[in-house]
Amino acid sequence: MQIAIIGTGNIGSGLASVLGRTAHDVTAGDRSDGRTAAEKLTGEGTRVSAAKIGGAVVDADVVILATPFGALKSIAQKADFAGKTVIDVSNPVTEDFSALSVGHTTSAAEEIAAALPGAVVVKALNTVFAEHYASGLGAGGQPIQTFVASDDDAARAAVICLAGEIRLEGVDAGPLSNARYLEPLGFMNITFGYMSGRGTGIAPVWRSN
Ligand SMILES: NC(=O)c1ccc[n+]([C@@H]2O[C@H](COP(=O)([O-])OP(=O)(O)OC[C@H]3O[C@@H](n4cnc5c(N)ncnc54)[C@H](OP(=O)(O)O)[C@@H]3O)[C@@H](O)[C@H]2O)c1
Repeated sequence: MQIAIIGTGNIGSGLASVLGRTAHDVTAGDRSDGRTAAEKLTGEGTRVSAAKIGGAVVDADVVILATPFGALKSIAQKADFAGKTVIDVSNPVTEDFSALSVGHTTSAAEEIAAALPGAVVVKALNTVFAEHYASGLGAGGQPIQTFVASDDDAARAAVICLAGEIRLEGVDAGPLSNARYLEPLGFMNITFGYMSGRGTGIAPVWRSN
């Protein structure tokens, strides 16, 4: 599978480092040409190529938007996302991190679906702090979960499977509108991690006995 990661910041680089060790072809795309991130990651033993955003998306089966929600309008103009599975990892928080910038009656994921006609949008990974990608994707001796929501059953299943390939436990979280609940969960994760001082080694999980 061809995977494009748009954004080479904390999450983009973290995802590139773990996905670049799978059998998939991974391209990092950013506002320059993704080369700095790709070179750094290749030096760390992963296989990641580099491209501008449009070039990364054109051949991709799956596009991961590892960018702030506010970048949506500009990114939507840089490539044609029709026919792509687009993974939205965002937590759409205000600049001062005091609240969600969208939510409750819609979600970033649903806004992304509306802005990218023909794309199949999947909400995932928004409750996984970036530092987990460098530290083995476990917390408290257990795998970290990611809650995966989409209106497309096949895309949801494919992303759960992809999560498993990088040692995350994908949890079926139902339709895309459930992003209205997953994004507040991401906000609470940020609140616990930063405002309550618990740090970014935490992760929310649903377990049964
Ligand atoms: N950090 C976490 O632990 C965490 C956890 C879960 C979810 N998330 C979500 O993951 C996403 C990325 O977070 P991050 O921490 O990786 O942020 P980050 O380190 O600031 O990186 C953001 C990336 O997005 C790019 N970008 C910003 N605006 C853009 C635009 N208009 N067009 C194209 N590229 C643009 C930046 O490129 P430049 O370098 O050119 O500015 C950079 O590569 C956010 O939606 C966040 O809510 C983050």
